[in-house]
Amino acid sequence: MPAIVLIGAQWGDEGKGKATDLLGGQYGWVVRYQGGNNAGHTVVTPDGRDFALKLIPSGILTPGVKNVIGNGVVVNPEALIEEKEGLERRGVDTSGLLISADAHLIMPYHVAIDRVTERYLGKAKIGTTGRGIGPAYGDKVARVGVRVADLLDEKILHQKVEAALELKNQILVKVYNRRALDLDEVVDTVLEQSTKFADKIVDTRLLLNQALERGETILLEGSQGTLLDVDHGTYPFVTSSNPTAGGAAVGSGIGPTRIDRVIGILKAYTTRVGSGPFPTELHDEMGERLRKVGGEIGVNTGRERRCGWFDAVIGRYAARVNGITDFFLTKLDVLSGLDAVPICVGYEIDGRHVDEMPMTQTDLHHAVPVYEEMPGWFEDLSACRTFDELPQAARDYVLRLEELTGAPMSAIGVGPGRDQTITREV
Ligand code: GDP
Ligand code: IMO
Ligand code: MG
Repeated sequence: MPAIVLIGAQWGDEGKGKATDLLGGQYGWVVRYQGGNNAGHTVVTPDGRDFALKLIPSGILTPGVKNVIGNGVVVNPEALIEEKEGLERRGVDTSGLLISADAHLIMPYHVAIDRVTERYLGKAKIGTTGRGIGPAYGDKVARVGVRVADLLDEKILHQKVEAALELKNQILVKVYNRRALDLDEVVDTVLEQSTKFADKIVDTRLLLNQALERGETILLEGSQGTLLDVDHGTYPFVTSSNPTAGGAAVGSGIGPTRIDRVIGILKAYTTRVGSGPFPTELHDEMGERLRKVGGEIGVNTGRERRCGWFDAVIGRYAARVNGITDFFLTKLDVLSGLDAVPICVGYEIDGRHVDEMPMTQTDLHHAVPVYEEMPGWFEDLSACRTFDELPQAARDYVLRLEELTGAPMSAIGVGPGRDQTITREV
């Protein structure tokens, strides 16, 4: 199996970190292909230690794996150093970390502009993580970005930052009434930071393709999720990159023909952080219950996640736009203790019944979920290790999700630990 992609099938925080960590041991390489330190991936290692990864691939916790920050990622140098040194302080070997020379840098002005534009948007804000993600990708597409390779050429770096700051400072000062950034200070700081990871900057595209030629295996780890994709998500309430499976080829330089499996990470219910439509959101004590039992608090930002029932329209949509071969269903254990478990099977939109993702933003905002109820179960699932050990009602719930989404569930999470997973032949 040459390359496989692992993606979030909903709005992020599905449990991708745990899934990557679980599979990492079977792969020689783990690659992040988009996003930046907006991600927060939790991994609980077998010795019970909790890690919250942001920018560094979750494979870093598996000894011997090469971990690549791909060309599609946006890298904040300060955040990178902090995360890398934090891992090293906890005894994690980071020698297998490699950074694409083509990845773009998140500069201090990106962070400043992200925060200030959100404030100015007021009620219309996206609810970003405030990490400068959107402005950094904006500069990449506008062809005024600064790349990791620029750190290796002081003269070029200086020129690029100077050109960028000319406009950015005008925006910061004249539009937002903020302080201008000093060119030399920005350049000196980033150059100083780069000394701590310059030895890791390589042509990752070449290395990855050479590894494939040698028959080595590669796991491409998505961050965020399908509905946060800038093309296929709930635009404009999205992130500024392509978490969907197609983004894995672009963001790593691996051709799509080398990818032969796409695993969708799917939570047994739904969560979302930040603004934007969310048809199955619960505003009552049941939403509060899911948040509490599921521990639905942002890893990175500490924000409470919005919670709701499973939405099969979204599951089916994710299966389609990513070409999902199989799902890893997470957090089934969180649903124990309910008399009945509702599943959204379609929407009612202004008097019409709709089975698929609405075409317009207006329709999605008007979508009222149509529910079907499955019998609940009361048993604690956390010690189950085979599908047959699950109570009948939990098995029926999983089988119904398979039917509704159109893809098999090859693994089921029953707790945060690496071993709290049921694998199934599908
Ligand atoms: P990611 O961003 O997709 O990597 O997900 P996060 O780490 O932000 O959020 C998922 C949370 O669920 C983390 O706290 C995980 O430890 C936890 N988790 C993952 N799988 C399971 C599971 O099957 N059951 C339970 N109870 N928790 C899980
Ligand atoms: P992981 O990888 C959940 C959301 C933000 C906001 C929108 C845009 O842990 O699943 P951005 O800072 O990216 O410009 O914010 O995207 N968002 C996430 N939500 N999980 C994430 O990452 C997210 N990364 C960004 O809350 O709504
Ligand atoms: Mg997360």
